Amino acid sequence: MPQLEPKRASESATEMVQVVLPNDANPLGFILGGTVMHLIDIAGAIACHRHTRTLLVTAAVDGLQFLHPIKVGDLIILKARVTAAWSTSLEVEVEVFSEETLTGVRRMTSRAYLTFVSIDREGRRIPIPALVLDTAEERQRAAEADQRRAERLKARKELESRSATD
Ligand SMILES: CC(C)(COP(=O)(O)OP(=O)(O)OC[C@H]1O[C@@H](n2cnc3c(N)ncnc32)[C@H](O)[C@@H]1OP(=O)(O)O)[C@@H](O)C(=O)NCCC(=O)NCCS
Repeated sequence: MPQLEPKRASESATEMVQVVLPNDANPLGFILGGTVMHLIDIAGAIACHRHTRTLLVTAAVDGLQFLHPIKVGDLIILKARVTAAWSTSLEVEVEVFSEETLTGVRRMTSRAYLTFVSIDREGRRIPIPALVLDTAEERQRAAEADQRRAERLKARKELESRSATD
């Protein structure tokens, strides 16, 4: 049975840290964009699993930018927090930082928004706990997530109608 008690974002907030190794890098010695995308998906999914305690699928990943390269030997830090929870879907924000191991200099390199949908083993959608919004900042974050959700659903409709005519 799903646990539907409302939860705070702090209960599922997730931080992942790893060192960038040569195997993760392109010939310039910078981490591959695809590797960063993979880590974003994992960090976001962990936070959402902690919120829902159900199986999840990724429904959408919003446009992603890479502001600075992260080089071999640096740390990559991913901070994920749930920003809004609806009936069966939820949004998570994942911020990515680089940290130079020798100086501690930290820079934000990406911010991503992902939507996950809660399902059971048969693929049926299942309800999720609400997100507790205590502070003005949390309410503002959730209101912004509502706007992004509306944009995503519009984009999804457009893609569906375009693929139906192809
Ligand atoms: C995502 C998926 C489960 C949606 O199922 P569906 O039955 O078509 O979706 P519905 O239109 O009934 O919407 C279900 C929920 O998902 C949300 N949703 C669906 N598509 C979405 C999108 N593109 N962006 C944001 N939210 C979306 C809806 O808002 C709704 O949320 P709510 O219950 O909280 O209101 C389905 O499209 C799917 O399985 N996609 C493939 C997922 C996948 O394989 N991901 C990669 C590997 S994990």
